[in-house]
Amino acid sequence: MSSGAVLTQSIETIAWTPEGVIMIDQTRLPRETVYVTCRNYREVAEAIRSMVIRGAPAIGVAAAMGVALGVLHSSDPESEMPVICEALAKTRPTAVNLFWAIDRMKRVYASARHLPLAEIRKRLVVEAQAVREEDIAINRAIGKHGAALVPDGKTVLTHCNAGALATAGFGTALGVIRAAVEMGKRVDVFADETRPFLQGARLTAWELQRDGIETTLITDNMAGHFLKSGRIGCVIVGADRIAANGDVANKIGTYGVAVLAKENGVPFYVAAPVSTLDLTLASGDAIPIEERAGREVTHVQGVHLAPEGIGVANPAFDVTPNRYVSAIITERGVARAPDEKSLREMADNKTR
Ligand code: MRU
Repeated sequence: MSSGAVLTQSIETIAWTPEGVIMIDQTRLPRETVYVTCRNYREVAEAIRSMVIRGAPAIGVAAAMGVALGVLHSSDPESEMPVICEALAKTRPTAVNLFWAIDRMKRVYASARHLPLAEIRKRLVVEAQAVREEDIAINRAIGKHGAALVPDGKTVLTHCNAGALATAGFGTALGVIRAAVEMGKRVDVFADETRPFLQGARLTAWELQRDGIETTLITDNMAGHFLKSGRIGCVIVGADRIAANGDVANKIGTYGVAVLAKENGVPFYVAAPVSTLDLTLASGDAIPIEERAGREVTHVQGVHLAPEGIGVANPAFDVTPNRYVSAIITERGVARAPDEKSLREMADNKTR
């Protein structure tokens, strides 16, 4: 991975170029706005693993581009394609968009494998770029469906970063907020800081401040206090994987926010593309939860805060049971009180 490439657009999460896959380095925001170039599929895999790029839809786009890059540089894709896909699939276990994107690329490869190598490569590059372009359009559609749910003149609370940075652009949860603002609604945002990786403090706060959307940063343990105050009109978060019954895996801490929202009568909305639905899993109990390095908990920005040798747990996600989810907002519409029936209808593209 090499640093320093500059894109003309001020905030582009990820882009395909002939030199490789360019992505904004999210580990360095907001202190530095640096783009890195991944020149082979292994570098793309490492960027996903180390969270240079993160957020379920953005991970999916990166994986698709990683597959395309791998085949572009391979003289024997028939034997290398499984190796490339396996390396990318091993990076992070929870966000299903990663596996969805790899499967999509595998299908394109399977339909093109009899063709000349140049044509196979071309089709994979076109597909990876389509995954990116479609994601932006999907987020716009999620925003359109979700904006109607946002109360005018109230505060929206969000957790983690489900914004432009977590997607190819516009965002899911933050896309709904952006769309509500575009509609003329008066909206301000409370952003949970999101320990331990600080996606809220570093990324959501940065994105929304750039947009001129009034944003107040709070620590995670303040959410209950503000949900009780009557000030919060709704909670909107993204998702990493949604089981068939509507249980939602999202950033660690989301479950607590959802319970506190229900306790205080505040609607709890999940905004996610249909590609985040995993209808092969009956409930959230089967969703694999990534465990990350203890250092993310013991250290803050390189400073060691905890005693040497202390035991640490660091699950990156939790599962919110469907009974706490007021609605799931997708590009195809809104599933209120989501259950297996409504989510299967959503996946089958029935308009809601
Ligand atoms: O560990 P991360 O930063 O990849 O986790 C991101 C989240 O949990 C997001 O809320 C989720 O991926 C939805 S992003 C549109």
